[in-house]
Amino acid sequence: MILVTGGAGFIGANFVLDWLAQSDEPVLNLDKLTYAGNLENLASLQGDARHVFVHGDIGDAAMVAQLLAQHQPRAVLNFAAESHVDRSIHGPEDFIQTNVVGTMRLLQSARAYWQGLDEARRAEFRFLHVSTDEVYGSLEPTEAAFTETHKLEPNSPYSASKAASDHLVRAWHHTYGLPVLTTNCSNNYGPFHFPEKLIPLIIVNALAGKPLPVYGDGLQVRDWLYVKDHCSAIRRVLEAGRVGEIYNVGGWNEKPNIEIVHTVCALLDELRPKSDGSRYQTQITYVQDRPGHDRRYAIDASKIERELGWKPAETFESGIRKTVQWYLANPDWVAHVQSGAYREWVQTQYSGNETP
Ligand code: NAD
Ligand code: DAU
Repeated sequence: MILVTGGAGFIGANFVLDWLAQSDEPVLNLDKLTYAGNLENLASLQGDARHVFVHGDIGDAAMVAQLLAQHQPRAVLNFAAESHVDRSIHGPEDFIQTNVVGTMRLLQSARAYWQGLDEARRAEFRFLHVSTDEVYGSLEPTEAAFTETHKLEPNSPYSASKAASDHLVRAWHHTYGLPVLTTNCSNNYGPFHFPEKLIPLIIVNALAGKPLPVYGDGLQVRDWLYVKDHCSAIRRVLEAGRVGEIYNVGGWNEKPNIEIVHTVCALLDELRPKSDGSRYQTQITYVQDRPGHDRRYAIDASKIERELGWKPAETFESGIRKTVQWYLANPDWVAHVQSGAYREWVQTQYSGNETP
């Protein structure tokens, strides 16, 4: 069995679904169900004994110790985090609690468990930490993409908390020998993406006839990767990554935000044309910039390609089309997120420590 933390969130849920689509190895899914945790993402696993859901906090050391002892996972994959930059600007506290203190406690729990394993299982055990390209800071337009040795220069409370967690993971390997792996991935997009983030927000607002908010001049650059490609990279790193190493994950897909917004609008014009014949791009509205907004991220993914033979399966064109189609095909998921009903759904379906 593997222990996945944050498996009810965007990437974690995609990871759990993809894992169980390809393997019968069970997943123990520990998630605090913050506003970003949505068990509706995992509704297709209801009744599937390979998925064991536990409602809890990675920072609850006693509970995590008990879970590890009971389920004896061969790996811990840490997706759990506060993940939204804008929220970190308004309220950094939760980011420090989960991303820094929570990660430290999870490392401690994993270390105690790992030290108690027999030699063969100790050699097999892995702690895989899911991190972000934002820890490297911002690039100038002509600078080379981030490699794994790029200096960590985080600029937002979110990225600073993730950089701190990356340092902790490194230190637990260096000091205690915990067999860790770290992935630093670029911007993901795809199904189950919470509509506070750019791409799902644009889709959802466009369909609702609302303004499409573009921060500043819209020329900030992000490097986009379809979420299922991130999941396949994590599986590959878990399988074959060298202990103690960092692997950057990205799809060589740098695009300015305004181009992303135009692409989404054009797909919606094609797939769900407006009844009045107008184009979705007329809803674009430039708004005040994010404070401290990083100008450009770009991932150099040569190492994972060279060492582990990983490559993304989707191009941006194929991935963004699938994403828009997914949102059009799942209006109930969007409606439940917007109304908050997904939280009620969770409460009526599950209570306490649950196994859907
Ligand atoms: P998300 O916000 O959608 O999901 C986070 C999940 O973690 C939620 O289910 C939430 O309930 C859970 N969680 C939060 N605090 C917790 C705690 N203390 N204990 C247990 N569970 C907790 O985030 P995401 O976009 O799926 O990102 C997952 C991970 O990947 C994060 O570590 C993030 O930093 C990293 N990452 C994200 C991206 C991206 O583009 N979204 C890119 C690279 C890396
Ligand atoms: O790079 C990886 C990171 O990508 C992850 O570590 C984070 O968890 C994830 O949230 C994401 O961070 P970003 O800040 O890049 O994502 P977001 O979707 O919030 O914004 C993408 C870009 O779009 C960014 O330049 C800000 C801009 N933006 C965002 C929103 C929400 C807008 O112009 N308008 C908006 O309304």
